[in-house]
Parts: sequence; C-alpha cells; structure tokens
Amino acid sequence: PVKRVHSTSIMAAANEDNIGSLKEQIAKVFEVSLRVTVPQESDVAPLIAPCAKKEFGDYQCNNAMSLWAKIKGKGTDFKGPQPVGQAIMRNLPASDMIESCSIAGPGFVNVKLSREWIAKTIQKMLTDGIDTWAPKLPVKRAIVDFSSPNIAKEMHVGHLRSTIIGDTLARMLEYSKVDVLRRNHVGDWGTQFGMLIEFLFEKFPSGEVNDQAIGELELFYKASKQRFDSDAEFKERAQQAVVSLQGGDEKYRKAWAQICEISRKGYQKVYQRLGVHLEEKGESFYNPYIPGTLDLLREKGLIEESEGAQVINIQGKKIPLIVVKRDGGFNYASTDLAALWYRLNEEKAEWIIYVTDVGQREHFEMFFTAAKRAGWLPSDENAYPKTSHVGFGLVLGDDGKRFRTRSTEVVKLVDLLDEAKTRCKAALVERGKAAEWTPEELEHTAEAVGYGAVKYADLKNNRSTNYTFNFDQMLNDKEGKLILEKDEERKLGLHLLQFAEVVEDACTNLLPNMLCEYLYDLSEKFTSFYSECQVVGSAEETSRLLLCEATAVVMRKCFHLLGITPVYKI
Ligand code: ARG
Repeated sequence: PVKRVHSTSIMAAANEDNIGSLKEQIAKVFEVSLRVTVPQESDVAPLIAPCAKKEFGDYQCNNAMSLWAKIKGKGTDFKGPQPVGQAIMRNLPASDMIESCSIAGPGFVNVKLSREWIAKTIQKMLTDGIDTWAPKLPVKRAIVDFSSPNIAKEMHVGHLRSTIIGDTLARMLEYSKVDVLRRNHVGDWGTQFGMLIEFLFEKFPSGEVNDQAIGELELFYKASKQRFDSDAEFKERAQQAVVSLQGGDEKYRKAWAQICEISRKGYQKVYQRLGVHLEEKGESFYNPYIPGTLDLLREKGLIEESEGAQVINIQGKKIPLIVVKRDGGFNYASTDLAALWYRLNEEKAEWIIYVTDVGQREHFEMFFTAAKRAGWLPSDENAYPKTSHVGFGLVLGDDGKRFRTRSTEVVKLVDLLDEAKTRCKAALVERGKAAEWTPEELEHTAEAVGYGAVKYADLKNNRSTNYTFNFDQMLNDKEGKLILEKDEERKLGLHLLQFAEVVEDACTNLLPNMLCEYLYDLSEKFTSFYSECQVVGSAEETSRLLLCEATAVVMRKCFHLLGITPVYKI
C-alpha cells in the first residue's frame, strides 16, 4: 500500500528558509486582519490575486463575498459584503509593504504596494540571492518522465518537444527545491527486438558487430522490418528470438544491449547539444516488476479475462486497458503500471509527471484510473501522491501539415538543430561578427542563440496547441515595437517581485509558456525603463544600476529555467 502524504504536512516541511511569493507575503498581512474581522471563521485562508485593472492597485483580497455568505443570518452586525471588506481593510496591521488601500465592487480590498518596500525587497534579493525567491511547492520529490525515445528509431520533433518541455518543467521544480528524478523511459523492450536481433545475426553470423557495421540504426530498423514483413520463416525466427531474449538467453541479451548502446550514443549527442540531463530507466528496467504489480491488481479484483487477454475495465471507456496480451506477453500499459508502482513505492515520488504528445492522453487517463481504483493514488485530483500527463500538440510545417523534410520523412532532430545553428551563424556573419569575434565565440554564440531560439519558439506556446515551425520567425530579432509607459521603474520593480509566483503557477499548471510570457514582459518593461530613465550619469545612478542588476539576475534565472544559454557579448 502506498502511504498517502497530505499536501499540508509536506508544505510545512518544505523550504522554510524561503520568503515565498509576493502573493504569499501579502496573504500573511491579510491573514491577521481576517482573523480580527470575523473571529468565528478564524481558519479562512486569504484569497489574494493580482488586480484585474491596474489603476485599482497591484493586488486584491477577495474574501469579503465568501465570508459574508458564511456569516449571513448568523447574528452578525455586518450588513453586506462591502462592510466586511471595509472592516478587513480597517483591520490590516501596520506594514511598510502597503502604500494605500481601497474598496471596489462588493468588498474587494485593493492594495497598492509601497515603492520603498519594493525597492527594499529587490535589494534584499540581491544580497540573499534569487534562490530565496524560490516558490514553495507541496511536494518533496517529483519524477519527470520525458524525452523517452524508442530504441533503434530516430528521435523526431515530437521527442524534441518532450525533451524541451520536460527539461523546463524539471528545472522549475528543481528551482522550487523539489527533489526531481529526471527519467528517460526509453522504449528498449518489446517485440521489435526479436526482428532486430535476428536480422543482426543474419548479417553478422560471426557475431562481430560494431557501431559502423550497423550504420544508421534507423535504416537497419527499416531493413529488418522489410525482412520481417516479407518472409514468414524469418518472422517465425524473430518471434522465437523474443522468447529467447525475454527468457534471458545470454547471446540474445548481448545483441540487445549492443543495439541499445548504439541508440543511446545517438540520443546522448542530442541531449548534450541541448544541455539536457536525463537518467535512463527504460521499459526493460521495469519488466521484472510487472508480474508482481499485476498480482497486486489481481488481488484487488481489477483484472478480468477478455477474449483471451487480461484487461482492466475502465468506467466510461469503450475499450478496456489490456495488461496481458493474448499471447501472454506484457505491453506498454503493463510496463507503465509497474513503473508507477516502482516510482510510488521504491522511489517515493509524490508527483509523477509524464510528458508526451496529446495522442497518448487516453493511455495515461486509463492507467491513472486503474491506479486510483487500486488505491495507489487518492481519488481527489488535488491530493498527493499525484500523476499528471503533460500532453503537447503537433509541430506543423508552413503548409499546416505535420512538419516534414523534403524527403517526406518525419524531421530528424539532429538536422533541425544543425539548421538552427547554421542560420544563426550566417546572420551573425552578415552583421560583421566574424571580424569582431574569435571563431570560438562565433561558434558558441551560434549554438547558444540557435538552440535557444528553437527552445523558446516551442516553450512560448501553450503546449497543448499545435505550433507551426518556422525558422525565419524564430531567428527574427527585429520583431516587436515597444510601447513606453509611465512609471517605468515601479512597473519593472513590481514585475521582478512577481517572478516567484509565476514560477509557482507555471509548475502547478505544468505550463512553461507562463514563464516565457513573464520573460517577454520583463524584457519589455526593462526596455521601457531603460529608454525612459537615464542610468549612468543620472542623479539616480546607484539605484537604477541596482534595478538593472536585479533585472539581470531574474532574467538569467528565467533563461536558466528555460534551458537557454545566455550570451554576454553581442
Ligand atoms: N516511448 C514513448 C514514445 O516514444 C514515450 C514514453 C513515455 N513515458 C511513459 N512512461 N509511457 O511515444
């Protein structure tokens, strides 16, 4: 049985040394006032949100309405939500944080933060470091299952999205002091290996294989598939090979390991270029745990016989979840159930996040439901331990169809990264950088900016939508006109303070685009500030330099969380 961890208890244990998000700090002040205002409802949590209309203030407390609903008709002296709001405002403790308050609508209390407090808090961040702004999340350990390509098949753009999105989610959780296990759930088990191994033996009867001999694994895969489909005798041998492999025959295990290793080397090159770190625990790792896991589910009476297969029926779904195939073999779902069991019980993860294309939503929904029925996960969506499927849309080409290269193959990741770098380098050369910089600087910048552009172009979209891949747009730095606003310093300062809650929201909703939007706004606000306010040589030089420094710190952190390498010399 899985021990349930309640979010509140983890919350208390998590990173005590953090000051918490701006919203939380405001909540602390309101907590005091709420308790005084309506003592009989002393455990009501403050509802704090940014003001929808900036002219009202920065944040608002929205408790008056719900409090009124609770106390109405129970002998209260209040005459409606507005007086409740007024009392909440009156009872606020003295704080140097708040410059002014006002009441709007049915008792919303608007708060305007003081300039001095914003300035002081930013300065404190510079002294203590941006890590003291890390949001508090109600989990100690999370698993992000991402990238997860399939052995012997080339990584394609879908795997690129999984890699980029998963890496950013992991980075944001890590920043929030969650212990993150980055898992590469590679497809390294299954029936395709029978055919691959048999083909390998056929081509190299002496057993002398090396990377060169197999050459491009993908072509090798295609050739063996062709053989498999066209020759019944080969097909039979391939099926027998699966049995030998799964039975642990040493010769077959060795061939399997060889094929995996060649694939692994290929993936590793991509991860290195993207600056992504992952720990591989592929499907084969969980294979030994499948029988035990299925026994547990059987004990709960979840597994039924259906047309010779063993299945779990899921309410509301027409097709059941197959966990043992008709031939007695295990499949994707049985592996995922065993992996989930392992992650909950052996690795003690409280939040398990799977990053794949939306096409796999059904699969995840089904085995999550099975796990809930087995009592491994609480039925309450918001309680921990929790599983989340982070689904993303397709990458489309200019023609609105699935992104492909000229050869109509699915685009290879490596080619795409090569092209991003080449285009970026050409743009730099065009601007005369080849004469100004050393070749190493040019190379490094082309990589950082090229790969960074690929990542940003992906992450800025809400992940569930399809997005159109366009190199020209991606590398276009001339885009966008900036509108200058008044009060630029204050706006920039307040925006900086909101960093932690944006990361928190992006983590909670598993939406990296929220961080991209924040970064984009930050750049805009900084530009407005910079073009409106003279820094060097002005009377406010010191203070404005501090604001620049704070912007740099937060911006650098954003880049880091998005996995983009900043370059310092352009
Ligand atoms: N190998 C799968 C694919 O390429 C993704 C695996 C995702 N992770 C999981 N635990 N099912 O589609």
